[in-house]
Amino acid sequence: MAESAFYKQVFENNRKWIAEKKAIDKDYFTRLAQGQKPEILYIGCSDSRATAEELMGAGPGQVFVHRNIANIVGSSDLNALSVVNFAIGTLHVKHVVVCGHYGCGGVKAAMVAKDMGLLNPWLRHVRDVYRLHREELGRITDEEQRYRRLVELNVEEQCINVIKTAVLQKSYLRNRTPTVHGWVFDMHTGELMDLRFDFPGKLEEVRQIYDLGSEL
Ligand code: CO
Repeated sequence: MAESAFYKQVFENNRKWIAEKKAIDKDYFTRLAQGQKPEILYIGCSDSRATAEELMGAGPGQVFVHRNIANIVGSSDLNALSVVNFAIGTLHVKHVVVCGHYGCGGVKAAMVAKDMGLLNPWLRHVRDVYRLHREELGRITDEEQRYRRLVELNVEEQCINVIKTAVLQKSYLRNRTPTVHGWVFDMHTGELMDLRFDFPGKLEEVRQIYDLGSEL
C-alpha cells in the first residue's frame, strides 16, 4: 500500500478501532483515561518494522515506550534519561527492556567509515560499542555475523547504561526492582529473543565504578 493511501485511511481506522474496543467493553476508554501502571519500560529502535507493543501482544497501558535510532541510552540524552527516571522513579516498572533488532540501519551505518553529518555524534555511541568489543568483533570474519553480533553487543551496552543511572541503582538496592533485560527482534522470522543479559552480575560490575546508590 502506498504511503499516501495509508495516510488517508488513518482517521477512518481510528473510528473503527474505537467501535471495536467499545463493542467488547463500553467503558474501555473511561478506564484507560483513569491512569497507567505499566509493568515494562521498553527502549527500542525507531525502525517502523520493529514495533514495540504489537510484537509483544501488548495493549494500551501495559508498556511505557521510548524509541530512537539504534536504541541508545546516552549519558547526556535528556529524553532517554527522563523516560528512564519517570518509568522507574514514578511509574515503578518491574522490568526495563532494551530491544535491538537485526537489520538495524543505525548499527549498520555505524559500521561504515563515512561522514554521516548530523548523525555522527549519535552513531558514535554505536561506534564506541564497536571499539569496546573490537577484539571479539575482529575475530568474526563474516560481515553479516559481525553486524548481528554488534546489534547484540549494543543492546548489552545500553542495558549497562541503564544500570549506570542513579534511579535504577537506588530503586534496585531499596526494592530489588526493576530488573534489566536485553532482547533482540529478528524481523526475518518475527521472533523475539532474550539475550539472557546477566543483570545481577553486571550491576555488581557497574557499581565498582559507577556506584550512585550506596549512601542508602
Ligand atoms: Co534499528
